[in-house]
Amino acid sequence: MTDGADPRIGEVIVSTEALQARIAELGAEITADYAAQAPLLVGVLKGAFVFMADLSRAIDLPVEFDFMAVSSYGNATRSSGVVRIVKDLDLDLSNRHVLIVEDIIDSGLTLGYLRKNLLARNPASVEVCALLVREGLQVKDPDLRYVGFHIPPDFVVGYGLDADERFRNLPYVASYKG
Ligand code: IMP
Ligand code: MG
Repeated sequence: MTDGADPRIGEVIVSTEALQARIAELGAEITADYAAQAPLLVGVLKGAFVFMADLSRAIDLPVEFDFMAVSSYGNATRSSGVVRIVKDLDLDLSNRHVLIVEDIIDSGLTLGYLRKNLLARNPASVEVCALLVREGLQVKDPDLRYVGFHIPPDFVVGYGLDADERFRNLPYVASYKG
């Protein structure tokens, strides 16, 4: 059975075509904004890996890459804001223009922790590019420079996002009935 035919996969929330069109726009925007100094893209594993791969190829600048893995304490579908760094960055952030690439901002707690953590490393700037923002749930203004799509409250999978490590390779974002 293919992933897309799994009965737990619901309606398509963001289609492949919509993803690719929006990522081209984001890439062009980032290319213009960082023309003077290319950013260091910091992907938040694992969810951001698919988005980061496509986004980076839509940016026409000599970008560099690094990755961080975090795990938030709390249950599977709700984050607590207490975040543990599972894999830290390899690169030094001093004087770098850092662009955090995230899959989805839900409560915004994970991002709040990450931003504070990276800002403490003396970068020239820290901005955020989030593919998805869930409507209405952020604890405080998460200050997102680039956003792909605002989506309704349903839990979603695909295009990097998982349910229990499954469905990351769906080429679109779909709702999930677990
Ligand atoms: P936050 O700290 O509440 O903003 O949680 C953000 C993180 O929770 C994301 O980076 C995802 O890893 C995970 N997450 C939140 N919502 C979803 C979802 O609908 N599907 C899959 N993962 C999600
Ligand atoms: Mg996750």
